[in-house]
Amino acid sequence: MSTTLEIRDLTAGYGRIDILHRISLTIGNFGNVGLFGPNGHGKTTLLRTISGLINPREGSIRFNDIEIAGLSPRAIVEHGLIHVSQGNRLFPDLTIGECLTLGAYPKRARADEEANRDAVIKIFPKLAERWRQKVRTLSGGERQMVSIGTALMSSPRMLILDEPTLGLAPKIKEELCASVLGISERGVPLVVVEQDVEFLLELSKHLYLINHGEVATEIQPGQSLDHSEIMSLYFGQ
Ligand SMILES: Nc1ncnc2c1ncn2[C@@H]1O[C@H](COP(=O)(O)OP(=O)(O)OP(=O)(O)O)[C@@H](O)[C@H]1O
Ligand SMILES: [Mg+2]
Repeated sequence: MSTTLEIRDLTAGYGRIDILHRISLTIGNFGNVGLFGPNGHGKTTLLRTISGLINPREGSIRFNDIEIAGLSPRAIVEHGLIHVSQGNRLFPDLTIGECLTLGAYPKRARADEEANRDAVIKIFPKLAERWRQKVRTLSGGERQMVSIGTALMSSPRMLILDEPTLGLAPKIKEELCASVLGISERGVPLVVVEQDVEFLLELSKHLYLINHGEVATEIQPGQSLDHSEIMSLYFGQ
C-alpha cells in the first residue's frame, strides 16, 4: 500500500491572520514531493499544520485515509507522519546518542529501536564517531544529520523535511542531499521544502510551487520540466 497525504481546502494561520487559503495538495501518489516558493508564503506554516503544531481553521488532512486534522502532534507522530522542523530545534545539552534514543519514543517505533539505530548509522556514519558529543558543540551539518536521524528513529511512514540544507556550506550540503536521496531509496516517502530546485528535481518529479498560501503551480511527473522552465514559472508569479 502506498502512503498518501491528501490535503483539501486547508485554511490556517496565526491570530486573526490566515496564511494558508483553502490550499489543496496530494502527496504520495507519485512518491516523493518537493515544495518550493518565495520566503514567507506559508511553506513552514503548511508543514506545521500538517503535523498538528497549528490548528487548522477549515479543511481536511487525510493520512492513509485517516483524518488527522485537529489531532495532537503526538497522535500524528504515532500515525508515522514525522516532521523535521526548519532550523535547529535540538536540545543543546543532549548527546547525539541521547537525541536518537528520544526519537524512538513513539510506541510504534520502540520494537525497531535497534534496527533503526543501525540504519541511521549507515546513512550518517559520522554520528557513530561522535556518539557522546553534545549537540551544542556540533556543526550545522552535523546537527541536521542528528535531526533527520532522530526522525528516522521514529519509524516514519512519511518524512517531512523543512529546508534541510539551509545555511550549509556547498560541500556539506552535497553530502546531506546524497543522504536524503538514500533515505528515499529505502522506501520512506519524503516531503521536502527546499529553495534548491535542482535538488528537489533529483528527489522528485512532483513539485508544488506555493505562493500566497496557495498552490500556484503543480508540476506532475509526466510534465518533466527542466530547471530553467521551473525558474521561469517561479519568477513569473
Ligand atoms: N508564529 C507566528 N506568528 C505570527 N506570524 C507568523 C508566525 N510564523 C510565521 N508567521 C508569518 O506567516 C507567514 C508565512 O510564514 P512561513 O514561515 O510559513 O513561510 P515560509 O514559506 O516557510 O518562508 P521561508 O521560505 O522564509 O521559510 C509570514 O508572513 C510569517 O511572518
Ligand atoms: Mg519556512
